[in-house]
Amino acid sequence: MLTELRLLMLEGPDPGEIEKRLPPDELGALAAWYGKKEGALNAFLSLTEYGEKENALLYKKTAHAEKSGRKGRFIVLEGLDGAGKTTHIELLRRALTADGHTVYATAEPTASATGGLIRDALSGLHPRTASELAALFLSDRIQHNVNPKNGIRGFLDSGVDVICDRYYYSSLAYQGIDSDIGWVARMNLDCPDVIRPDACIFLDLSVEKCIERMAKDRVTAEIFETEEMIRRVKRRFADTFRMLNDRENIYIVNADSSRESVAAAIYNTVKGIF
Ligand code: TMP
Repeated sequence: MLTELRLLMLEGPDPGEIEKRLPPDELGALAAWYGKKEGALNAFLSLTEYGEKENALLYKKTAHAEKSGRKGRFIVLEGLDGAGKTTHIELLRRALTADGHTVYATAEPTASATGGLIRDALSGLHPRTASELAALFLSDRIQHNVNPKNGIRGFLDSGVDVICDRYYYSSLAYQGIDSDIGWVARMNLDCPDVIRPDACIFLDLSVEKCIERMAKDRVTAEIFETEEMIRRVKRRFADTFRMLNDRENIYIVNADSSRESVAAAIYNTVKGIF
């Protein structure tokens, strides 16, 4: 189980606030971990890199992890805009390929006709409501799954591992702000043509760092790329993971360290699952 602590950190309240909201068993576990009651939380927060011990405590695999029975593995990378997904998907693709797997890297929104409508909405060219966007993303996602030429289902059935940049977790986090997150969740999770991933890895980076990185990389900003929106999305990701934690394998990786160590953390997470 993901601990409540990681989810509270994702929401971004200050340490004093986290301590107040942390369930007693989580606080107890943390205190036991650091061998002291006082300052256990600060000891954790002051970590710049999560070592093995912390990973074991905070990122452990859900007890109910189901084997999908499919031949290929379906891994999703999620994160705020600017968290480094593109870079790390490519590094993971190379690492798994070097291990002898056939890997297909893909992304949402896709390049389908619906994906084009979504891009027009994201750029502000053709504004859409959150509910319209949720429906467009779902339509694009269904096509992404079932497309006979390069659909996710076909790859998984033929033993290819699929790594996807964003999936329905993003719909819950982004469209769940101005639409109804429960409705967005239901239509995605209950859709028979939307495959449940084997794992979702969330690259966790502070809002400030995401904005810093985006300022360097982006020429134009999309509708979600404002500080206020990124903060709200981050909170919604925490809600999403809390909502899905019982049925999904969700891992949170600290993305605020060197490229190599983040890549290693992602690779080790994947290796630990399968
Ligand atoms: P990206 O290609 O830079 O990741 O941009 C995709 C944008 O689309 C990003 O701001 C997140 C947003 N998005 C949603 O709002 N809902 C979704 O379901 C997905 C997949 C992405």
